[in-house]
Amino acid sequence: MSTRPLLNRSLAGMGTTIFAEMSALATATGSINLGQGFPDTDGPEEVREAAVRALRAGLGNQYPPGPGIPELRTAIAEHQQRFHGLTFDPDTEVLVTAGATEAIAAALLALLEPGDEVIAFEPFYDSYAACIAMAGARRVPLTLRAPSFRPDLDELRSLITPRTRLLLVNTPHNPTGTVLTPEELAAIAALAVEHDLLVVTDEVYEHLVFGGAHHPIAALPGMRERTVSISSAGKTFSFTGWKVGWVTGAPELVTAVRTAKQYLTYVSAGPFQYAVAEALRLPDGYYADFRADLHRKRDLLVAGLTAAGFRAFEPQGTFFVTTDITPLGEKDGLEFCRSLPARCGVVAIPNAVFYDDPEAGRSQVRFAFCKREGVLEEAVARLKRLAV
Ligand SMILES: Cc1ncc(COP(=O)(O)O)c(C=O)c1O
Repeated sequence: MSTRPLLNRSLAGMGTTIFAEMSALATATGSINLGQGFPDTDGPEEVREAAVRALRAGLGNQYPPGPGIPELRTAIAEHQQRFHGLTFDPDTEVLVTAGATEAIAAALLALLEPGDEVIAFEPFYDSYAACIAMAGARRVPLTLRAPSFRPDLDELRSLITPRTRLLLVNTPHNPTGTVLTPEELAAIAALAVEHDLLVVTDEVYEHLVFGGAHHPIAALPGMRERTVSISSAGKTFSFTGWKVGWVTGAPELVTAVRTAKQYLTYVSAGPFQYAVAEALRLPDGYYADFRADLHRKRDLLVAGLTAAGFRAFEPQGTFFVTTDITPLGEKDGLEFCRSLPARCGVVAIPNAVFYDDPEAGRSQVRFAFCKREGVLEEAVARLKRLAV
């Protein structure tokens, strides 16, 4: 038997995702899972019913069209127009994917060559590192540092080299909750134009900005032709298991991403595509109520974690709050998260796994607040035992 490792070396060391490890730990110990970012209640009943109707009507039970069903592509284009004033042709500028995860993979596999450099905000969502590696490219982190977690734009400029091909943007940002300001986005866009860089922007939390607004970078001058925008129904409609995501961008970019995508899943989620088309057309009130609900939950968890002795960094968006565990006399987030279920029956995620340099996020731990208020209250009560 060959001694060569079985796993492709580009994935060496990536092991099991922290979400799988921590969710398994939550199940095994019966803990409250504030680790993985999935809501503990399903999305709107009428959207669920739309999926049932599609299944029963035989819509999408066989392979849907490669780019996604026309009804959904049209609804995505309408959504981009309605919320962001962006115009996309549903036939050539919209692509439906198996969640944002596949959109990220297809975009990076399509647009990168071995040796290319990708600048991404660190801490980064874990699939970015894996997909950049699978494309044979090199990730270059731009570290967002506590307590503000703002990008240092001079540092960004200094990281650009002749090998830089792509900026990977994520706003609202997981795990810090940073929402890029119009000024920050304008500076990033200006650098992309100046250096002729592509931008892939992950905006899955676009409807979860608390007290401010989400600004898509694709709307800025010179960006339409160089930006691949990614979003997903999972977070916005609380159906993370359906895995319906999408890409919007100029036809050449969408064609490139589609070429890679067709060899990943080809197509997915047929009946759910019909349901998401209906979901995207929900009235403004749905989006406002969803945001207000998560806003309340954010405030509840931030206050609770603070009372329990954590230093909580209030997020401007997303499902997550990042904390520092140093005030609790703890140093190592990974050790802390592994011991937390046994100590008090709560599961969280150590931010260190989102950094190239684990030291940078060693004492940071992320909690998800997309859970029922009673669950958050119980989690806080349990966490308060740590300080005793
Ligand atoms: C920043 C970010 N991008 C992408 C995803 C994945 O989205 P999907 O479930 O649509 O694949 C997540 C899920 O947690 C995320 O937080």
